[in-house]
Amino acid sequence: MTHMTHWGILGAGGIATRFCEDLELLPDHDVVAVGTRTAGSADVFARRFGVAHVHPAYADLVADPGVDAVYVATPHPMHHDAAMLAIEAGKAVLVEKPFTMDAAEARSLVEAARARGTFLMEAMWTRFLPHVAAIREVLASGRLGELVLVTAEHGQWFEQDPAFRLFAPELGGGALLDLGIYPVSFASMVLGRPDHVTAVSDPAFTGVDAQTSIVLRYAGGAHAVLTTTLRSFTTNGAAINGTDGRIEIDGTFYAPTSFTVVTRDGGRERVEIPTVGNGLRFEAAEVGRCLREGLAESPYLPLDETVAILETMDEVRRQIGLTYPPR
Ligand SMILES: NC(=O)c1ccc[n+]([C@@H]2O[C@H](COP(=O)([O-])OP(=O)(O)OC[C@H]3O[C@@H](n4cnc5c(N)ncnc54)[C@H](OP(=O)(O)O)[C@@H]3O)[C@@H](O)[C@H]2O)c1
Repeated sequence: MTHMTHWGILGAGGIATRFCEDLELLPDHDVVAVGTRTAGSADVFARRFGVAHVHPAYADLVADPGVDAVYVATPHPMHHDAAMLAIEAGKAVLVEKPFTMDAAEARSLVEAARARGTFLMEAMWTRFLPHVAAIREVLASGRLGELVLVTAEHGQWFEQDPAFRLFAPELGGGALLDLGIYPVSFASMVLGRPDHVTAVSDPAFTGVDAQTSIVLRYAGGAHAVLTTTLRSFTTNGAAINGTDGRIEIDGTFYAPTSFTVVTRDGGRERVEIPTVGNGLRFEAAEVGRCLREGLAESPYLPLDETVAILETMDEVRRQIGLTYPPR
């Protein structure tokens, strides 16, 4: 018998729409409810995805007995409180990236989920993409030799609109938290926790960071050079360089894409894995798998790693002086 995962969507915005489009590609997942701040605002969303229950408050969504897993898809400053509501209601929770505004908030969610024994995961969808799984296999094979240097970038151009989430301090705007989290998470997957962080940054017109560049150093001597910007649509590629070879990941590295393994002896292997959809169904499938197998967290993105990534982000923020209004 198919074990269905019944989703409740918390916050019916842009990424929630993309996520539900991808859930339609999974036969063992469905959306049974949506929770919204204000009555009426999620009606179009509910009609589009055939969602039976629209709850005019997030508290009502998490209390819905038909919901197995809550997808938190609000702007980042609201992630912590929304996810905590769902944890306290005993639901499995998938929280959009960045998981929280800082490591302290992340630790508070992790402690609550562990105390309650509920599933919790950061929706860093890149981690679950097929090409990233294939990259992990290359890394595990040792073909690259000793890892020396990771590079990754995430840059997009946005029109300067103070009300737009990416520029608004009260909505957690800025390149680092929204886009820079991808290169930082990627470096963490490949090299682990850095022992030294260096960052420089320039602000946008609203005071959030417009462009931030980060150099991470690791105990074995490897480096990661990571960039993020709201001011240019960059190639968004990434590379993992070792003593014996490298992986060149085509832009856009954090979305479904292809890569090439180049070895020092002249070998070239091209890896192309066709996918359909937006790429978000793989993280949803991982939540379903973990729930079926009784896992409280994913081995591919453990909660301790999510916290460690936010500790790196906190250190970058400390160095560049990036603060947000109190909530
Ligand atoms: N994985 C990805 O590729 C990806 C892509 C884009 C964004 N994201 C992440 O997803 C999150 C949401 O981004 P988004 O682009 O979907 O945002 P969005 O379109 O602005 O939608 C956010 C939704 O959150 C709810 N919300 C709760 N408090 C809010 C507030 N004070 N102001 C505005 N909306 C509020 C609203 O839903 P209701 O009115 O229904 O409550 C709103 O529609 C962010 O953390 C972002 O980093 C991830």
